[in-house]
Amino acid sequence: MSDRIIIFDTTLRDGEQSPGASMNLDEKIRVAKQLERLNVDVIEAGFPIASEGDFEAVQAVARVLRKTEVAGLCRASRKDIDRAWEALREAKKPRIHTFIATSDIHVKMKLQKTHDQVREAAIQAVRHAAAYTPNVEFSAEDASRSDISYLCEVIQAAIEAGAGTINIPDTVGYAIPDEFGELIATIRERVPNIDQAVLSVHCHNDLGLGVANSLAAVQAGARQVECTINGIGERAGNASLEEIVMAIRTRHDHLGVQTHIRTEEIARASRLVSNITGILVQPNKAIVGANAFAHEAGIHQDGMLKEKTTYEIMTPESVGIKDSTLVLGKHSGRHAFKKRLEELHLDLDEEQTEKAFSSFKRLADKKKTVFDEDIEALIADEVWSLPDRYKLRSVNFSSGTGVVPSATVEMEIDGKTSTSAAFGDGPVDAVLKAIRKASKRKARLLSFTVSAITGGTDAMGGVTVKIREDGHTIIGQGTSPDIVVASARAFTNALNKLACREQTELGEKPSL
Ligand code: KIV
Ligand code: ZN
Repeated sequence: MSDRIIIFDTTLRDGEQSPGASMNLDEKIRVAKQLERLNVDVIEAGFPIASEGDFEAVQAVARVLRKTEVAGLCRASRKDIDRAWEALREAKKPRIHTFIATSDIHVKMKLQKTHDQVREAAIQAVRHAAAYTPNVEFSAEDASRSDISYLCEVIQAAIEAGAGTINIPDTVGYAIPDEFGELIATIRERVPNIDQAVLSVHCHNDLGLGVANSLAAVQAGARQVECTINGIGERAGNASLEEIVMAIRTRHDHLGVQTHIRTEEIARASRLVSNITGILVQPNKAIVGANAFAHEAGIHQDGMLKEKTTYEIMTPESVGIKDSTLVLGKHSGRHAFKKRLEELHLDLDEEQTEKAFSSFKRLADKKKTVFDEDIEALIADEVWSLPDRYKLRSVNFSSGTGVVPSATVEMEIDGKTSTSAAFGDGPVDAVLKAIRKASKRKARLLSFTVSAITGGTDAMGGVTVKIREDGHTIIGQGTSPDIVVASARAFTNALNKLACREQTELGEKPSL
């Protein structure tokens, strides 16, 4: 059996199903390009029938990538499959991924079909997809809660119909590692034609076992793992790509398998996805958390100084975290700045480069040293921001002991200037209220997080807000050395995403 594990990344599809995490077209292309640099084998770019936005994103990613396989998700229906193929047809390596649920509860309650009807729908779907491309993946949704004999029958039929990859999802994150490993082993034993397909797994993290279940499946013979950057995804998320890949690399002695991932690109991919989606990475998150390589205890520091391997099972460099990412200061010129952009794979055209350079100069005036993370955040905030309906022209506020915090904002909305003032419990509250008034939006603030992008008292503040309006949850981000200004930017960014969503009518995804 091959020792090669295929890494199937679904950040752009399942990852995007995280509440508030929707990405626009440009953002998806940027993530896709970084995933290609990471050297993932397959990128699931979206669910083309779900919305115009998803269709366009899959099509654009399919056109842009030349090396990586691009998959589009579709239910087991001709209409879904036709639409997926339309989006994928220009891909160098297209894959149609069709699915239907096989557990009793989904078959009876959700699909309201008989088991025979579901098996027949699976066969028809795979045949229809196989008429477009030989690269067809079939998923038996909620496989881990399905009757094993029925599941094996459906898998056998799907392979006979032309599926080259069979995916076993633990859709609701219910499985326990030894049990899930056994499920994979049983499928390998009981499905007579299983050798004609790659066996894949797709584990959700509801019990915090997504990665453990995926690794148990690999030990039992699965050869494709579906995962997302930072483990984002529906509900508690999916198995995290970086944890799976680094476990496989670090414990090769025990697992005996390998991936083709360029692990040095992991940290950058993690930051990019976090910057774009606004979903922060918890500090103690394995591999990519801010504390993942921080040694606090004296005994540990002593050990590290004597011999790193005393407390370090992998190096920060191996996942792309450098000792010092200090790059530029206020005396750095255009040439050095451009070179750094190239090194960071930040693809900007001439106009964007000029804009980024001006923002960098403004930042370098306030902050002695500018780090890679500052540059990435600044570009996400000021260069790659959406075509803005709401432009924040100026923010003024006053607060302190003995004064009622107040703020005035000037915005440009659809080309017209709108100025508003408000009082608040604090300067941030006052500023957000003033923006809400000026923009005439009802958006409710659900959560507010502020973090320092790099160290030091002059660090850039990164603010993430989650807002809700008319049933839509949106995450916005803003950066500035002044956290009140960063808050205003984050709130405005969220309003622009909301406006963008209304414009493209992303709509609700069909339920999975
Ligand atoms: O979790 C799940 O079952 C899925 C399938 C569509 C693969 O995302
Ligand atoms: Zn899923």
